[in-house]
Amino acid sequence: MQRFSVPVEYPVYFARNVFDPASQVVAEAICRLGESRRHRVLACVDSGLAAAQPSLVERIKEYFHARGGAGGRLELLAGPVLLPGGPAAKTDWKAVRELMWTMGNLHLDRQSFVLAIGGGSMLDMAGFAAGIVHRGVRLVRVPTTTLSQCDAGIGVKNGMDEHGKKNFVGTFAAPFAVINDLDMLTTLSHADWIAGVAEALKVAIIKDAEFFDELCASAAAIGNRDQAAMERLVRRCAKLHLDHIAGGGDPFELGSARPLDFGHWSAHKLEIMSMYQLSHGQAVSIGIAIDSCYAAQMGLLSEQEVSRVLTSLEACGLPTWSAHLGRLSTDGVPEVLDGLEEFREHLGGALTVTLPRGIGARVEVHTMDAGALVGAIESLRRRAGG
Ligand SMILES: NC(=O)c1ccc[n+]([C@@H]2O[C@H](COP(=O)([O-])OP(=O)(O)OC[C@H]3O[C@@H](n4cnc5c(N)ncnc54)[C@H](O)[C@@H]3O)[C@@H](O)[C@H]2O)c1
Ligand SMILES: [Zn+2]
Repeated sequence: MQRFSVPVEYPVYFARNVFDPASQVVAEAICRLGESRRHRVLACVDSGLAAAQPSLVERIKEYFHARGGAGGRLELLAGPVLLPGGPAAKTDWKAVRELMWTMGNLHLDRQSFVLAIGGGSMLDMAGFAAGIVHRGVRLVRVPTTTLSQCDAGIGVKNGMDEHGKKNFVGTFAAPFAVINDLDMLTTLSHADWIAGVAEALKVAIIKDAEFFDELCASAAAIGNRDQAAMERLVRRCAKLHLDHIAGGGDPFELGSARPLDFGHWSAHKLEIMSMYQLSHGQAVSIGIAIDSCYAAQMGLLSEQEVSRVLTSLEACGLPTWSAHLGRLSTDGVPEVLDGLEEFREHLGGALTVTLPRGIGARVEVHTMDAGALVGAIESLRRRAGG
C-alpha cells in the first residue's frame, strides 16, 4: 500500500485597492515562500472587468514596473493578457489554447505565476489552463465579483463547460494565493452584484441560521448596493466555504455528496437550458427556491421558513422563477429534472442532494420524488403569477 499525504495551504486575503502602488498585498502573496529570486508573472484580466475599469491594466503595469527594476522581486511578462469574461469564457476552448500558448511562448515554468483577475467564469477557465500547463503552474486568483469572492474564486476547483454540462471538464488544483479586493466590486452590474447573495443564502440556509437572519434583514439594502453590508456578506460567506473545504473531510470531493451545493442540481441544468441567459447566481437562486419548496412538501421546512427563503431571494432582486421551468421533455416531465441524473453522474455513486432541515441545518437525501418536485415548481409558477 503506497501512502502519503501532502499538506495544502494557501492564504486568502481581504484587501482594498490592491494595485495601488503603495499596496503590498499582491507582492506579499507572490513572495510568500520567501524564495530569494525574481518571480515571473503572467497577468490575465477579465475583459468585462477591463471595460468597466479602464485604468486597471495600466495600474497593474505600473504596480509591477515599480517592483521590477534592478533588484526588484517581480517581473511582469508582457502586458496583461485580456481574457473573455462571463459564462462564454467556460466554453471558449480557443481562449484556453491561446493562453496555454502564451504561457509556452513566455517560457513559464512550474514556479512561474499566472495572476488571474476577474469573475468566476474567467477564473475557472484561466485556472484550468494554469492547472494543466506543466501539470500545474502557480495560480494567484484575484476574484472581482461578489460570487467569486465569496465562493467560486476561493476554493480548489476550476472547470470548463462541455458536452452540454457545467464543469464537465476541469481539475482540482489549489491556488497559490487568493486576493479578494473589495474595491473591485463597485463597478459590477446589478445582476452580478446580487449574484453572490444567492450563494450566501445557499450556505446560510443549510449551515448558519444567524447568518440567514442577517441576510433577511439586509437583503433589500444589499439589493440597493449597500457596500458595507455586501462586504460583511462576502467575508462571512467566504469563511463558511473555506471552513467547509478545510474541515468538511472531503476537499477533493471523492465522496458522492457535495454538501454546499444545495440548489445546484437544477441550477446547473437551468444555466445550460437557458443557454446562459440565466447567470450562475440567478440559476442558484431558482434552484434554492425549488429545493426549499420541495423541502416544505417533505416536512423539512415550515411554511413560514420557506416563505422567508423566497422573500429574502426576491427582496434583493434575485429570481425564483424562470420560463425554462415550464419546458417539458417528451415524457411530459419538466426538462429541468434531467439535472438530477447529471448531478449524480458528475459526483459518481449514489444520488446525494442536500436539503435544509429547518433553517441552519441540513439533511442528505438519495431520492427525490418527481411528483413533489413538479408540485414545488408549480407553486413557484403560481407565486410568479404565471
Ligand atoms: N470553481 C468553483 O469552485 C466555482 C464555484 C462556484 C461557481 N463557479 C463558477 O463561477 C461562474 C460565475 O462567476 P461570476 O458570478 O463571478 O460571474 P462571471 O465570471 O460570469 O462574471 C459576470 C460578468 O461580470 C464581469 N465582471 C467581472 N468583474 C467585474 C467587475 N469588478 N466590474 C464589472 N464587471 C465585472 C465579467 O466580465 C462578466 O461579464 C460560473 O461559471 C460558475 O460555474 C465556480
Ligand atoms: Zn454555485
